[in-house]
Amino acid sequence: MSFVALDRLVKKQLIPETSAARVAFLWDEIRRLKKEKRAFLPAHNYQLPEIQAVADFVGDSFELAVKSRDIDSRLVVFCGVRFMAEGCYTLAPERPVYLPSLQALCSLAEVDADEVAERQDFLRSLGRNFVTMTYVNTYADVKALSDTCCTSSNAPKIAARLGAPDILFVPDQNLAYQVALQTRRMYLPPPDPHQFSPQEYKERIEPLMREGERQGLVGNVFAWEGACHVHHAMTLEDIAHIRRDDPEAVVIVHGEVRPELQEEADEVMSTSGMVRYVAEHPEKKKLAILTECGLVVRLELENPEKQFYKPCRLCRYMKANDLENVYETLRDEPAERRITVPESVRTGAALAMQRMIELAT
Ligand code: 13P
Ligand code: SF4
Repeated sequence: MSFVALDRLVKKQLIPETSAARVAFLWDEIRRLKKEKRAFLPAHNYQLPEIQAVADFVGDSFELAVKSRDIDSRLVVFCGVRFMAEGCYTLAPERPVYLPSLQALCSLAEVDADEVAERQDFLRSLGRNFVTMTYVNTYADVKALSDTCCTSSNAPKIAARLGAPDILFVPDQNLAYQVALQTRRMYLPPPDPHQFSPQEYKERIEPLMREGERQGLVGNVFAWEGACHVHHAMTLEDIAHIRRDDPEAVVIVHGEVRPELQEEADEVMSTSGMVRYVAEHPEKKKLAILTECGLVVRLELENPEKQFYKPCRLCRYMKANDLENVYETLRDEPAERRITVPESVRTGAALAMQRMIELAT
């Protein structure tokens, strides 16, 4: 991305002056190796700016899934987290996909596929007419149990097109709320993590389902008990603080924040939705962006004339990638950083991802 010039990164103290020469060397080497090896380097919006600077494409998780499926390259070094690299392999398994750091995981993605199958059995036992919608922030075994995947940029749109009244939404309980709200379904809060008791859960959700019927809603969203450690930690006080300091600031939150923050915000969006919003609203000069800080850093670099408040937080998983391990991975193609999926689950996961792409576009 051309917006990231080395002198600006130093001036904004995003990289120390003492590292500038090394960064310049790594950029040259990465660009040379990409060409030589016909490699594609996609990067998520949360990646460090010095990584975004040498990436071939920067986007949200939906854009990255589509782009890296369609691109013609010999290999991919995926500058994002594991589920994204896995999704890239799932859609185009003929091409090696590498992840710069094996620590680049995601707190949402750690879902036990057996527990999902158990929940599906439970909903069947209640006689519910449901589909399973899985956020892409999951691994292939869970995707393979799903009717479709979705991302934060398209979850309500996909839900509206599925045709079943009820939705089991895995794993983000907060994005599940946004789906319920926008598709006129009753939001059924998740059970406590790893404490699923069918009887207790049933007693909790039945009155809510009856209330949904009374209100004439389309159906129900059964929220899974997952949450992102970054977005779930954001509080109403983060927004109240901004509103007190600057009532004119537009407050934009990611769909992974808690329901009460989604209600209080001016807009709820995916990361690239936020980038577009800022570009398409030159008149909005002050913005508070509640998501991972990498996105806000990018917006500041792209929009120096605007003021960004930063109640953002860091994702340690996204920040496990750095320019050094991106370079090493591209140079050495280490076998242990190659991401694959057993073929027995890949095909089911690919169907769910392809269905997402069809329904979202
Ligand atoms: P986006 O699809 O909005 O980029 O979100 C991905 C993610 O991991 C958010 O935390
Ligand atoms: Fe996962 Fe949250 Fe990090 Fe996104 S910000 S990669 S959802 S842990």
